[in-house]
Amino acid sequence: MPVVPNPPALDPIMGHRGARGHAPENTLAGMARAHALGTRWVEFDVKLTADGALILLHDDTVNRTTDGKGPAAGKTLSEFRALDAGRWFSPDFAGERVPTLDEAMEFLARHDMGANVEIKPCPGREAETGAAVARELVRWMSGPRPPFVSSFSEISLAAARAAAPAIPRGFLTEDFPADWAARCAALGCATFHPHHKPITREKARSVREAGFRLLTYTVNEPARCKALLSWGVESVITDYPDRMPGA
Ligand code: G3P
Ligand code: MG
Repeated sequence: MPVVPNPPALDPIMGHRGARGHAPENTLAGMARAHALGTRWVEFDVKLTADGALILLHDDTVNRTTDGKGPAAGKTLSEFRALDAGRWFSPDFAGERVPTLDEAMEFLARHDMGANVEIKPCPGREAETGAAVARELVRWMSGPRPPFVSSFSEISLAAARAAAPAIPRGFLTEDFPADWAARCAALGCATFHPHHKPITREKARSVREAGFRLLTYTVNEPARCKALLSWGVESVITDYPDRMPGA
């Protein structure tokens, strides 16, 4: 059996796309806000540009989170660089740029923070995005809080594993599929990240008993967060890290 790489011990609270409730998502300003709130782990989304660079973006277009228009897969890094990724959220963040993965990792290393790097491929680019993200993260693995990857795409996770097997992997799902353990095992994932809604005390126990670690998203209700943590969820991903119990 191949060894399954594990992330380090995680904090109970992880910032979603930085600290999405407080600052524009997937920006360095968002990471800085998470840091200011005392959050040591953040999740963010990574895609490939048309010319093969890795940048932080959630959607398949730039329409919602920048002042630009059009599909993300068609833009080069220099086209991304020209976009404003902060003003849509608030004029206070005008001038904020779409960061590269490297810039985000450098910021987090400087602030002693850890990264849950979600591989979020544009359609059709699942394998190349997974491989590129994993290769890029290799050089960030020696710090006190080495990063890990997560993805809804099993193609991306398999490609990440092939490119850099030592980077820990997490399997994201929108529900709680009956075959989750087999799928995690097949991908060499140490962590399972279902949406929080289907999680019950019993299901959380079944994940622990199967030898996997449980993370969940996106929880913005303090009482729900408290229940999930009490059932053994290791880390809850939230837009409001400061409002959650366990922060
Ligand atoms: O990684 C947890 C969460 O970010 C997954 O959903 O759509 O917010 O990327 P989404
Ligand atoms: Mg995400």
